[in-house]
Amino acid sequence: MNRLQSKLGLELPLLQAGMGGIAGPELCAAVSRAGAGGALALHKEPPDRVRDLVSQVTAATSRPFGVNVIPEVTGPAACRAQIRAALQRLPRNGFVTSFGLPDAEAAREVVRAGHVLVIQVGTVRDADEALQRGAGVLVVQGTEAGGHLLGELPAARLLHDVRTRHPDTVLVVAGGVATGADLAGALKRGAHGAMAGTLFIPTSESTAHPDYKQRVVEATSHDTVVTTVFDIGWPARRHRVLRNVLTEEAERRPTTFIATTMVGARNVPVPRYSASVPASGTVGRVEEMAMYCGCSCSRVRGRDMAGSVVERFRREFEAARRFRVRTTKGVSWTRRSNR
Ligand SMILES: Cc1cc2nc3c(=O)[nH]c(=O)nc-3n(C[C@H](O)[C@H](O)[C@H](O)COP(=O)(O)O)c2cc1C
Repeated sequence: MNRLQSKLGLELPLLQAGMGGIAGPELCAAVSRAGAGGALALHKEPPDRVRDLVSQVTAATSRPFGVNVIPEVTGPAACRAQIRAALQRLPRNGFVTSFGLPDAEAAREVVRAGHVLVIQVGTVRDADEALQRGAGVLVVQGTEAGGHLLGELPAARLLHDVRTRHPDTVLVVAGGVATGADLAGALKRGAHGAMAGTLFIPTSESTAHPDYKQRVVEATSHDTVVTTVFDIGWPARRHRVLRNVLTEEAERRPTTFIATTMVGARNVPVPRYSASVPASGTVGRVEEMAMYCGCSCSRVRGRDMAGSVVERFRREFEAARRFRVRTTKGVSWTRRSNR
């Protein structure tokens, strides 16, 4: 058991990324039940609904899981309100994951309540700041990642830079991880674990739209692009998505409504260039919407249950580690010496 596993109580050093519109209670609980760290995306949910969603996960699993916030999207006051609501229902073994830096007060409340604060960063400077604010685990996100990007370095490079500066910190890599072999590689480079988002988009428990799931399964990394076009609702942050007509055109089309989607119990219109993902309750021109997707899609397979995905990941990880142990024990040396 490594330091990430013992800190968060995980069988497998794998975290599922919080994903707004995709990672609800079902996905979060299924991933946690399988021995990895599930995460419930709080996205823009109001405090009442946060309490309800967290309760749904606690009813479905007693394993550790996280709640995920995006301070940059909600703003500091709403983020604090989400965290306070979540902390009222979060079991003792629960943790909080933040996409980017939470404000100092929100961070203090998590730590004071005795939960591990997991902060995802994309630069060395933000890694320093996250540790100042009390992060117990740092997630270093590389530019291979799907969704919004916190920095400009590939995962291996950022991991190296942060590891050099913070040799004793528990580090998790995000971006480019979809198999147990990818995780074994990350551990070899100095990480304690990995966070994966794209891997879980096509699972049965994910609430992504069926067409989106299918496109992720069929895609390779060449079908993804880093862009800024889906900026309504989340401006000024680059994001990696599947290419579509909007990412490939030089001219911007009119910002008219192209779909409707469910937000809680309400059906709301979606403008073209919205940052919202196509979810199971979305109807309309789904193919024009933001289908966030990481380079790891090249290694994402069919549309399975999340538990099977984690189980396969675990087998691949164990096989990759067995292979590494064999080679480090000098199989090639033995062969040479036998000659
Ligand atoms: C569809 C999608 C939605 C995402 N939404 C969130 C989110 O709500 N909160 C968050 O912390 N990160 C979010 N991310 C980013 C992840 O935290 C993580 O950096 C990324 O999934 C890692 O790369 P991968 O998708 O290639 O595994 C999202 C990623 C994807 C693919």
